[in-house]
Amino acid sequence: MATLPAGYPEDAFEAFALLKTRDELTVDDLKVLALIELYGECFYQRLAAGVEHAEARALLERNGAEERGHAHRVVKAIRLKSGEAYSLPEGADNPFMKLAPSAVPASAELFGLLEQGEVDGDFAYQAWADHESNAEVADLYRLNGREETRHGERVTEVRRLLGAL
Ligand SMILES: [Fe+2]
Ligand SMILES: [Fe+2]
Repeated sequence: MATLPAGYPEDAFEAFALLKTRDELTVDDLKVLALIELYGECFYQRLAAGVEHAEARALLERNGAEERGHAHRVVKAIRLKSGEAYSLPEGADNPFMKLAPSAVPASAELFGLLEQGEVDGDFAYQAWADHESNAEVADLYRLNGREETRHGERVTEVRRLLGAL
């Protein structure tokens, strides 16, 4: 089991709220961020698994796959900032999975939270990029951020496809 660096909440959403209060992210912050992104992948996969509409499910799965891509960019940022080769944990070895819901039922309320959360995620990445001293790392943050906004747009499309929700 991978462990969280000391001093971070065990809940992925709380940990993200803490990271949002940071200006320039430290290497420990980045390790936590990579684990949050992997949690995001799993969250979207579990949400997608309960959606029957094929196109809507595919959009949610695509968001999930991109969250994993974000984790890989964060690993690259860790290497650029510290020279450390950080490796991502597999599945349940992610410490944030302990508090993950086993199923994520679709609802209008959840879609609203995701839309807002993705926009907030983009803001956070752009703010971290603004404070980042390594230009290459800042570029990686900006790429992740732009995709978070796209995730929110996909959730809006899912909401439209599912109609009644
Ligand atoms: Fe992400
Ligand atoms: Fe996202």
